[in-house]
Amino acid sequence: MPQTDLPLEELHRYAPDLPAPPDLDAFWASTLQEADRWPLAAACTPVDSGLVTVETFDVTFAGFGGSPVSAWLHLPARALRERGPLPGVVQYQGYNGGRGLAHEHVFWASAGFAHLVVDTRGQGSGWTVGDTGDPVGSAAAQPGFMTRGVLSPQDYYYRRVYTDAVRALDVLRGRPEVDGERIAVTGASQGGGISLAVAALADGVRAVLPDVPFLCDFPRAVRIAAGDPYGEIVRYLKAHRDHVDRVFETLSHFDGAVLGRRASAPALFSVALMDEICPPSTVFAAYAAYGGPKELSIYPFNDHEGERRSTGACRSPGCAAGSSPPLRPPDPGSPMLRARLTIDPSRPVGPVSRRLFGAFVEHMGRGVYGGIYEPGHPEADEDGFRRDVIDLVREMGVTAVRYPGGNFVSGFRWEDSVGPRDQRPRRLNLAWHSSETNEVGLHEFATWLEKVDAELVLALNLGTRGVLEALDLLEYANVPSGTTLADQRIRNGRQEPFDVRMWCLGNEMDGPWQLGQLSAEDYGKLAARTAKAMRQVDPGLELVACGSSGAGMPTFGEWERVVLTHAYDDVDFISCHAYYEEQDGDLGSFLASATDMDHFIETVVATADHVKSVRKSSKTIDISFDEWNVWYLSQVPTGLAKRIDDWPLAPPISEEPYTVADGVVVGNLLMSLIRHADRVTSASIAQLVNVIAPIAAEPQGPAWRKPTFFPFATTSRLARGLALHVGIDTPGYDTARYGEVPLVDAAATTDAGAVALFLVNRSQTEEAEVSVDLAALGVGSVEEAWTLADPDPHAANTGERQDRVGLRANDRALIAGDTLRVTLPPVSWTAVGLR
Ligand code: AHR
Repeated sequence: MPQTDLPLEELHRYAPDLPAPPDLDAFWASTLQEADRWPLAAACTPVDSGLVTVETFDVTFAGFGGSPVSAWLHLPARALRERGPLPGVVQYQGYNGGRGLAHEHVFWASAGFAHLVVDTRGQGSGWTVGDTGDPVGSAAAQPGFMTRGVLSPQDYYYRRVYTDAVRALDVLRGRPEVDGERIAVTGASQGGGISLAVAALADGVRAVLPDVPFLCDFPRAVRIAAGDPYGEIVRYLKAHRDHVDRVFETLSHFDGAVLGRRASAPALFSVALMDEICPPSTVFAAYAAYGGPKELSIYPFNDHEGERRSTGACRSPGCAAGSSPPLRPPDPGSPMLRARLTIDPSRPVGPVSRRLFGAFVEHMGRGVYGGIYEPGHPEADEDGFRRDVIDLVREMGVTAVRYPGGNFVSGFRWEDSVGPRDQRPRRLNLAWHSSETNEVGLHEFATWLEKVDAELVLALNLGTRGVLEALDLLEYANVPSGTTLADQRIRNGRQEPFDVRMWCLGNEMDGPWQLGQLSAEDYGKLAARTAKAMRQVDPGLELVACGSSGAGMPTFGEWERVVLTHAYDDVDFISCHAYYEEQDGDLGSFLASATDMDHFIETVVATADHVKSVRKSSKTIDISFDEWNVWYLSQVPTGLAKRIDDWPLAPPISEEPYTVADGVVVGNLLMSLIRHADRVTSASIAQLVNVIAPIAAEPQGPAWRKPTFFPFATTSRLARGLALHVGIDTPGYDTARYGEVPLVDAAATTDAGAVALFLVNRSQTEEAEVSVDLAALGVGSVEEAWTLADPDPHAANTGERQDRVGLRANDRALIAGDTLRVTLPPVSWTAVGLR
């Protein structure tokens, strides 16, 4: 079976604008209202299937027009139902199939779900049996179901099918064994198309799994599908040449790529790239249009088999690409850790600065060139910036960006990067042994920041330059007009000043790798002189002195003390940099990285406050944690091409694939920043695109989210207002690197009646149940709960499987009385929004 549809990169971009018919909402509202005239009249008769772990019932209910529809209800055996109401799954059938025999389809019930297997009216004499007729006739049609009544939405066959499907959901919801709030809909092929329609038309669907869905993007499907069932429409149109518009007008009322926009439940789609029945582009169209959180499993070498021949069949009906089903009922046999949080809203830590969600972009590797900027890429905008990357940066909630380095800045002449582009010099980037074309400079980067809606934070070269060059850049950037440099900026196309508020006085000046490395004495004095001079231009600037380039530096602590002794009165921040990695397979220590960050912050705070007391100052120095992340630094080849005749342009450097465990650690590091929000008032994840980055951008190809993207984006969105103290009563575990550390970690914020909780379970084997007394917090409902986890903590996203790893709805965040209980899978990060 050859791959005949679009290439994968184009499939990712394929998002046809299929217009919704103007009467769509009214049509479905009146259809479903009319169906309600018939009571559901669900009848369940026990069936002796001979199975002992699953109980089966023969169900009939009144579908469209009151006519009977058959289904099987499978329940886990009574002994397994004791733990409370079951999550449910409604399954719809593929074309020409029916509900099958009573002992078939027992997978979901065996996994602890109530499972309703619903007939499709009129079908069920193809590959599995069905017991439901379609008493409604239709005008002339092709053999099959696709064109029955296709000249009008009112008469079309799928009006009846979709209505039956929506009512089936109510049947399952009405069962006393079932938790009506936790019902997913699923099906393969036609069943996938029907489940998409139900997700769009019914209220309260908790999740949807459209498996290689049919009934999507009819205009394209009919034109490119190799055969039936779409072929039935082709043959009909061959005979009814004058009805083409009418037919497509009808179909637009039933198209998954149109209806799906109205859905909001988390969805896990699947698509097979050699699928001749439901061509992949038609599935991508539905996926692109789908209105809720979504993931897509892509099978490059499959035809129309669907999930049934892959491990995907075992996936959960949450928005999941892995397992750990969010709808999974608790397993009475599994060990469970317990932790208790005490949160006192009357003792806030301090406001969470929006600058905590900053990032860092350096002229390093493919961060700028081939990262944010790639003229000639199909997604490039008029300025050469990739729109897909811009969208992801916005989605990530990045609030500020430190630029242009990093180590790069210590060899950077800012003047090279402004003025006519064709006259900008090409320079050596000594930090990263590459070429710098200066095609992207101050003006271009500021333009990009406007597109991503983030603040510019500039780093100055105090390695190979000094006070005068810093003053020149400040004049160029911030003075409105009337001086040589301000007017030069205006001539270069920027009338208004850039008005950069926050400036970093050099970068990692203690590092032996730094061009112009200095001693603490020398740097402290230089930082003070530079800061004083800059304040003569603008006293209101916010200035950052370099702290140690890591807590492991031999001079750590003393460096901070000496630098601040010289510069205390002149600067506002001292910087911290920290990168963590899993070393030698020691996942336990790696997962505890945030405890190290806590300690790092508290040590720097103590040192800064020591200088404050010695100087009898009333001023407090804050921390700018302006480089932090997971970075597999020990794996960076030390032999970057160092030949004098080889200065590549944007060579790939440190393009970390990132795993679920890395994402959990990144989420946990953010929690550390939040619980120190009184002193850490600015931070930058290092970096943003391609280089040590949460976002990957392939040259001429797609951009996608790595696992570290998700906790950052969610924390930036939810962590607002005030950070709260969280008391954590949790068991601990031993680590080789940090001794005993807590198994469960937590942070909390509150803002305008909402509370956000961030939780990590560091156990590699056990689930953790976290309980929180909400009485004092004034919140009583779970608005959202998301978890990053996977049975394989080293699972990652790739260009081929960009959605392998993602957030899943955690529906084990439940409130009873005043207590919230959240269950966390092993090696997981979770965010819960409460109101
Ligand atoms: O972020 C990569 C590098 O790490 C930066 O250039 C430097 O400041 C740090 O050592």
